[in-house]
Amino acid sequence: MRLQPFKLERFFVPFEFTARYMLGGSDSESVNIGDLLALEPGATEQFHNHWLGYTEAPGAPYLREEIARIYSATAPEQVLVFAGAEEAIFWYLNAALQAGDHAIIQTPCYQSHLEVARATGAEVTEWPLHFENGWAMELDGLEKNIRPNTRLIVLTTPNNPTGAHLSHAGQQAMVELARSRGIRLFFDEVYRELEHAPQHRLPAVCDLYNRATSLGVMSKSYGLPGLRIGWIATRDGEIFARLQELKDYTSLCNSAPSEFLGALALRNRGKLLERNLAIVRHNIELLDRFFQRWSEAMTWVKPVAGPIAFPKLKLPTSSAAFVQDLVDKQSTLLVPGEVYDRPGFLRLGFGRKNMLEALARLEAYLKAVP
Ligand SMILES: Cc1ncc(COP(=O)(O)O)c(C=O)c1O
Repeated sequence: MRLQPFKLERFFVPFEFTARYMLGGSDSESVNIGDLLALEPGATEQFHNHWLGYTEAPGAPYLREEIARIYSATAPEQVLVFAGAEEAIFWYLNAALQAGDHAIIQTPCYQSHLEVARATGAEVTEWPLHFENGWAMELDGLEKNIRPNTRLIVLTTPNNPTGAHLSHAGQQAMVELARSRGIRLFFDEVYRELEHAPQHRLPAVCDLYNRATSLGVMSKSYGLPGLRIGWIATRDGEIFARLQELKDYTSLCNSAPSEFLGALALRNRGKLLERNLAIVRHNIELLDRFFQRWSEAMTWVKPVAGPIAFPKLKLPTSSAAFVQDLVDKQSTLLVPGEVYDRPGFLRLGFGRKNMLEALARLEAYLKAVP
């Protein structure tokens, strides 16, 4: 298996932990272990007594139970826990695709969707989102790409990096389309539950169609990437069985402390989401005003869900050069669209608390641009 370097991750290496202000992150503001343990009386003592032996390969039963509460028609036995969403993506695509198959992948996307799908030997067609069209998910374009050997459609909603989100009608139409052709669906739902208003919350796709899989993780909406706890939820028994076999070759089982803390966080997910949504709603108002003030420099499609936007740069410079100069001069990090093969765009994360200071740095930089 030959995988190309992961452009986003390679880009982050020199900057992620050194830039003072992070405006390019894709997750919600995190908390420390003490904050999590304080959510339940007695949790600190239980954590100290938590056994550090191997854990059950599919995930601790108490954790799978908490995860299953996120879904309405998917049971704990239909949840498989992985080391982050990344491991789940890697094995799901390997389980679902092989040479001779065709897959349709929405782009721009988290690079592993495209890269791992291609590495299986399957043929891949991109289903692009367009800024000019408000990053709308165009179902006509999707249907035209379906072939007799199309086995899988992959999409991310709410989307990273564009902030786009499927509508209820769009989700229904996709499920019907896939069902009528017997095509599997893989929905990367790592930003689910971070919709800015309740009417934008879609049902999880695994609850709608028995050949659909939902991807979830503690990292994004819940703001706990350091746990490295992700999962797939699916009623697709064939895929599920294969994934269990494949997981034995990578993480095998999960980190016992992370399973404990993940379950604790999920039992209190309402509180975590409320806090993270309050940050996102506050920040998006700051951004609205920012984009009004700087409409000559950049323009955006305002997202209705998630902590990410993908504005278009209107200055006569590449987004890569802009990002480099900004980090050099203001120690403030954005992500250049080049890492998503979309030059001219910037990924901007607004899930973190220090947005006001970070935006002030960006404004100071823009003021100094000749
Ligand atoms: C859309 C999407 N899917 C999956 C992942 C991987 O998540 P994790 O790093 O928690 O494994 C990311 C991380 O940025 C992401 O943005």
